[in-house]
Formats: sequence, C-alpha cells, structure tokens
Amino acid sequence: MSTVKIGWAGLGNMGIPMAGNLIKAGYPVQVFNRTREKEKPLLDAGAESAGGLSALAANNDIIFVMVSDDDAAKKTFSAGDGLLADDVSGKLFINVSTVASETSKYLYEQCRQKGAKFLETPVSGSVKPAQDATLIILVGGETDAFEQAKPVLDKLGKLTLHLGPVGVGSAAKLAINYLLGLNLQGLAETVLFAKAGGVKTEDMLTIINEGAIGNGITKLKSPAILKGEFPAAFALKHLAKDLRLARAQGLDAPLSEPLYSSFKQAQDDGLGDQDVMAIYKHLDQ
Ligand SMILES: NC(=O)c1ccc[n+]([C@@H]2O[C@H](COP(=O)([O-])OP(=O)(O)OC[C@H]3O[C@@H](n4cnc5c(N)ncnc54)[C@H](OP(=O)(O)O)[C@@H]3O)[C@@H](O)[C@H]2O)c1
Repeated sequence: MSTVKIGWAGLGNMGIPMAGNLIKAGYPVQVFNRTREKEKPLLDAGAESAGGLSALAANNDIIFVMVSDDDAAKKTFSAGDGLLADDVSGKLFINVSTVASETSKYLYEQCRQKGAKFLETPVSGSVKPAQDATLIILVGGETDAFEQAKPVLDKLGKLTLHLGPVGVGSAAKLAINYLLGLNLQGLAETVLFAKAGGVKTEDMLTIINEGAIGNGITKLKSPAILKGEFPAAFALKHLAKDLRLARAQGLDAPLSEPLYSSFKQAQDDGLGDQDVMAIYKHLDQ
C-alpha cells in the first residue's frame, strides 16, 4: 500500500468511481460527503470516513474536492468551517470540480495564504471513463505540485495534461464542454428534424453513427434517445452551469448564447437532474 494518504470530499456521480479507483490502486483513502449516506459504497470498498472537512485535511497529504459548482467548491475549501479551517501547511489540495478560472485562482490564493499547495484538475469524460480510469485530466498549477500529484492523477485517467498556471485547466474544461453542448444540441435537433420528415429515430441514429459525422458522444447517447430515458451520468444542470461560466468567461461565439439558453430553459423546465441528453426531451415538445 502507498504511504501517500488521500482525502476525497464530494461523492457524487464522479467522486464515487474516482475515489474508488484510488482505493483499488492501493492508496489509503479517507472520504467526506455532505450527505453522509453517500459515503457508504466507498466505506464498503475500504475507505475510512473522516467525519468532517477539517479532519479530512488534517489526516491526509493530498486532498481532492469533486463537488457541483463554484459555490460548493468555495464552501468546501472555506477557512471558516471547511478544509482550510485549521493548519494545512504543506498539504496539497486538488479541485476536480468544474468551476470558473476566477474561482480556481481564488481557491489557489486561499491555499497559498495558508501555506498549502493547490492544483485545478477538471476532467473531460463522464461516469464510464471515471469508472474505467480513462478520463482526460486538465491540470492548471505550479510544476512542483503537478509532479507531486501526477502519480495519483495517473490512476484516474488515461491522459494527464499540464496546461499552464491555475485558471488554464478550467479554461480548457469550459471549452471542451462547449463542444460537448454543441454536439448534444446538434444531435437532438437533427434527430427531431429527421423524425418530422418521416425518418425513424433508429434509422437516423444509424445514419449518424455509421458515418463520419458520428462520434463518441453520439454513440454513447443514442441508446438513451431510443429508450426515451435519461438517468443522469452528467446532470443537465451541470452543463447549463458550464455554458453559463463559459459565457461569463468571454465566450461570445454565434452559437454560444442560443446554446446556453436552450440548456437553461431545459433546466428551468425541470430537467436539471436528468442527463445532459435530456435536451432531446426538452426539444421534443
Ligand atoms: N458527471 C459527469 O459526467 C461530469 C464529468 C466531468 C465533470 N463533471 C463536473 O464534476 C463536478 C461533480 O459532478 P458530479 O456529476 O459528480 O455531480 P453530482 O453527482 O451532482 O454530485 C455533486 C456533489 O457535490 C456535492 N455538493 C453539492 N453542493 C454542495 C455544497 N453546497 N457543499 C458541499 N457539497 C456539495 C454533493 O453533495 P451531496 O451528496 O450532499 O448533495 C455531491 O457530492 C461538477 O462540477 C461537474 O460539472 C461532471
């Protein structure tokens, strides 16, 4: 077993399989989740519960955070009652949650002031790549922190890219999720247009996926369209959040505003907790 002690805060759709892979890789792992029942699968797999955020920081060398959004990440890192509440000098904190570059820089500064190191490592890939440890890990931060983290990050993904200082990893993540949104919206619009012209959905998905226009995401999401069932792997509310962050971060491309509006309307219509592909359901009305 490794002597590097890992803490993991945030056990949602992504946090559970990712922390699970570190247990499988032989790291001693402590976990904490706001809703404590969600710790159970990790405890069953061999993790310990830290019982609270300050204990999670105190007991471990590298502490990962994988929570919903900017506010949740700031709250988790809080110097009041979060990870940074007590002495954390020498610790390495890694935020995996998708947040704005500005939020990432803020968290970096909070850690730096407490004598701790910080990396942002948002990931490209959803639950299946998280389970299979084939994520693409987009790192922003200082080189020494990156080198310290790399052996651990390599247990979570197939590719770990050090892209620049803190903020650049988040910029890359918001950019790739813009392309994800365009793909999902385009797939839904195309299938619905074909359906209106009398083309069976199954046939249209075959045309897409057997040709050059088909890609990993169209293939992955086709079964959900066919079944009309959209249980969340990547919740639609999180993509709406990422498109909002991208717009706030300067994305002003012609399709960016209507794309964001479409996902925001779907969220407002009650589809936020369903999968991103539920954009199809929203448009099929
Ligand atoms: N799912 C994907 O495919 C995917 C892929 C790449 C990146 N991401 C990003 O990764 C992050 C996590 O995604 P996910 O799919 O794992 O999300 P999720 O299933 O919705 O889980 C969210 C996690 O955040 C915690 N949380 C939410 N608000 C909190 C708060 N105010 N204080 C403390 N904890 C809070 C939740 O705790 P509770 O259990 O107590 O609610 C839960 O552990 C998001 O930023 C998302 O954009 C997701």
